[in-house]
Amino acid sequence: MASSVPCYVISVVLCFIVFFHGYAHGTVPAMYVFGDSLADVGNNDYLPLSVLKANFLPNGVDYNGGQATGRFSNGKNSADLLAEKLGLPTSPPYLNISSDTNKTKAFLNGVSFASGGAGVLDSTNKGQCLTFPDQVDDFSTVQKTLVDALGSDAAMDHLSKSIFCFIIGSNDILDYTREIVFKPTPQDFVNSMLSSLKDQLQRLYTLGTRKVVFVGTGPIGCCPSQRTQNSTNCDAQANQLSVMYNKGASNLLHDMKSNYSDLSYSFLDASSALLQYLRYPAKYGFTEVKAACCGHGNLNANIPCLPNSSYCNNRKSHMFWDLFHPTEATDRLLTTTIFDGAAPLVYPINVKQLSNL
Ligand SMILES: *[C@@H]1O[C@H](CO)[C@@H](O)[C@H](O)[C@H]1NC(C)=O
Ligand SMILES: *[C@@H]1O[C@H](CO)[C@@H](O)[C@H](O)[C@H]1NC(C)=O
Ligand SMILES: *[C@@H]1O[C@H](CO)[C@@H](O)[C@H](O)[C@H]1NC(C)=O
Ligand SMILES: *[C@@H]1O[C@H](CO)[C@@H](O)[C@H](O)[C@H]1NC(C)=O
Ligand SMILES: *[C@@H]1O[C@H](CO)[C@@H](O)[C@H](O)[C@H]1NC(C)=O
Repeated sequence: MASSVPCYVISVVLCFIVFFHGYAHGTVPAMYVFGDSLADVGNNDYLPLSVLKANFLPNGVDYNGGQATGRFSNGKNSADLLAEKLGLPTSPPYLNISSDTNKTKAFLNGVSFASGGAGVLDSTNKGQCLTFPDQVDDFSTVQKTLVDALGSDAAMDHLSKSIFCFIIGSNDILDYTREIVFKPTPQDFVNSMLSSLKDQLQRLYTLGTRKVVFVGTGPIGCCPSQRTQNSTNCDAQANQLSVMYNKGASNLLHDMKSNYSDLSYSFLDASSALLQYLRYPAKYGFTEVKAACCGHGNLNANIPCLPNSSYCNNRKSHMFWDLFHPTEATDRLLTTTIFDGAAPLVYPINVKQLSNL
């Protein structure tokens, strides 16, 4: 009789095995971040020739008791908040990983390549930032270090479980709105953006990227910077470009997934999400969705946020921190949507589902 194990014992054991296996399988070991000032956590601080910097107060007035770290925000940005949701530390700036640290160890924990001013086009703010192709070049250095240290199988396994986050495209669109001569049609311009995006995403797939979080561009025409140019109304063309880019980027990811069945992604339609906050401010806790909190002039957007700028006290009820960037409050709403939300704002799966694959 001692040799016969009751059935329920077996099923309890099986249940535990399935549970623990499932749990381990869904753990995201690291996040690799690519993008612009919406995600920069300090890379531009280490670019001596760049004027695109936010390493002075009042930027960071709400960051860890008031610290200007290079984030273009009053507090945390989307890269910080998404890491928080995943239970990870914020991935540190690639340019601040010092030569005496164990590179393999640092690179395994995640890296941010995001750099204020970057666009998907290599030409956007070139010389002032790590362009998107530069960011992917730097990631290939990281990937090579990991492959050399751990072997290809272990390195690729680690990368395949990691999340690759993209927040990029706004600066190309802003540049387009400033262009006066030799302006391509909106569709031709967006096509050139998508072509560059495709090249870089394909390179990254080859280097081991399998889980993508893509944050589309917001309604850029409704930034305080753009509103000051049309009474206080949104700039319709910038918003239209954003919608076109988002549609194209989402189609590109869909097509890539058809080609590469082991690729998964979450896409956030940030344009539609932010337009909802603009239309129904009270519902989302905002009292001011047009003016910047920090800056000077009409909508506090004629002069950017500088060390001597005045700034609002009620940062939690302002949608915009400065003439271009959202407050931490806005980024918290967006991050909650991309992590837990559903179609039509986030699709085909949210980040919580992506992280559990
Ligand atoms: C850069 O690294 C140093 C040392 O690790 C750290 O104290 C500092 O906060 C880092 N700066 C940024 C912007 O991450
Ligand atoms: C660097 O870190 C890796 C991964 O944690 C570890 O395997 C390796 O032994 C470390 N190298 C040194 C020189 O400490
Ligand atoms: C200016 O605002 C009006 C009202 O919202 C809008 O109809 C018009 O398209 C805007 N002009 C530009 C250049 O965006
Ligand atoms: C998918 O594969 C086809 C055939 O190789 C290729 O022409 C196309 O560019 C690929 N599309 C994407 C988005 O990777
Ligand atoms: C703030 O600083 C800027 C740049 O240093 C300067 O041009 C401007 O006059 C200053 N504004 C005030 C109100 O002091």
